[in-house]
Amino acid sequence: MSKSAKLELGEKTIELDIIEGTEGERALDISKLRAETGFITYDNGLGNTGACLSNITFIDGEKGILKHRGYTIENLCEKSSFLEVSYLVVNGKLPSTSELEEFTAAIQKGSKIPEGVKTIIKSFPKDAHPMGITSAAMVALSGFYPEYLNQDLSDQQKKEIIPLMLGQLKTIAAAVYRHGQGKDLIEPNNNLDYVSDFLYMMTGNEPNKEVAKALDVLLILHADHEQNCSASTVRVVGSSKANLFASISSGIDALWGPLHGGANQAVLEMLSEIQKDGGGYEKFIEKAKDKEDPFRLMGFGHRVYKNFDPRAKVIKAYCDVVLDKLNVEDPLLDIAKGLEKTALSDEYFAKRKLFPNVDFYSGIIYKALGIPTNMFTVMFALGRQPGWIAQWKEMIEADGMRITRPRQIYQGKTDEKL
Ligand code: CMC
Repeated sequence: MSKSAKLELGEKTIELDIIEGTEGERALDISKLRAETGFITYDNGLGNTGACLSNITFIDGEKGILKHRGYTIENLCEKSSFLEVSYLVVNGKLPSTSELEEFTAAIQKGSKIPEGVKTIIKSFPKDAHPMGITSAAMVALSGFYPEYLNQDLSDQQKKEIIPLMLGQLKTIAAAVYRHGQGKDLIEPNNNLDYVSDFLYMMTGNEPNKEVAKALDVLLILHADHEQNCSASTVRVVGSSKANLFASISSGIDALWGPLHGGANQAVLEMLSEIQKDGGGYEKFIEKAKDKEDPFRLMGFGHRVYKNFDPRAKVIKAYCDVVLDKLNVEDPLLDIAKGLEKTALSDEYFAKRKLFPNVDFYSGIIYKALGIPTNMFTVMFALGRQPGWIAQWKEMIEADGMRITRPRQIYQGKTDEKL
């Protein structure tokens, strides 16, 4: 196939280079479009725009494929741990045994949060949303680690700050939960693995292995998802040469919205509402189809996946196993399954290729693990942090990095006078 395409604009014809990805995706390089033609592009929601070149994550939305650095998500969930996947996503390769030990030790060393950050967390009202507190605590870290505030970090500084970020967010997330419960914060326990330590700091008890394993898999499933809303936010903020704390804090903010990570909380609230309403989900399906009604079936649909979300498949299968192992019976799981079945056989959802996404079943597992609903999106942030760090690192290390500064098509008034 030709490596360029011709674009005719009136009298003018220009050649646009075609860029090919390693998995076969193709893009038109329009970087000279405006200079050569005066035109810009318009792409509402950026669904047709490749904003960067990346080696981290590949998604084939039509086939339901998700790979990190070439490994399928199913393979990673089966054979790896969250810290191995974090290392893989950030550093581009799986760690050797000694590299994993070093990485784990650095995370443990970086798990204690500054007293000032604890004070900030404790200064929030107890009923404040955990995502707001988490974001504030994350950006507050910038005041306590000033040595990492610029983007010209040495290799040694990058080696330090990455495990530091993973350690700090684990403790922040647990502290945010404890504060909301009106309980004293608990210090990290370096004898525990990452997930067990997080659960220990939340509950004060060491979790059983099955609970920790289930949460570990959930975190792996969230580790990265290429240029989604929060990762793009991290890149946009970082493109101004803002520091990693500010960039990740902005990513947490972007994740909070119910169309993105906040959907996991919204799904559970929706399922509970259906339960309260008597369990008849057909009414909710009709509401979701009604264009006059702003209600959407939360946990359904995806910008990229148009066949199925491979993460949702793993989680759904895991749901039965986890509930069974924990001896939990949750009627919300039956409602979710019924809702999914009915929606999938409905023409509205089939025509628009709307399938359950990662957030549809994850809340049922979080709930079974004893994690409260308003903490679900913080769990997503904890899992997604390696992806955000990887996206930020890849961007600042890329040749020819430029500040992100899109254009617009002005449609306002012209020539007004006082
Ligand atoms: N319920 C009912 N209708 C829907 C839904 C839904 N959940 N999602 C999309 N549609 C309809 C939408 O109304 C539109 O219909 P029409 O063509 O008649 O106007 C069509 O499907 C295409 O929707 P869109 O809004 O153009 O799709 P998008 O790619 O811009 O949005 C989405 C993707 C995920 C924001 C959207 O599907 C949605 O709002 N889903 C519910 C929220 C959710 O579960 N979000 C989690 C996403 S996955 C994890 C993550 O990113 O964090």
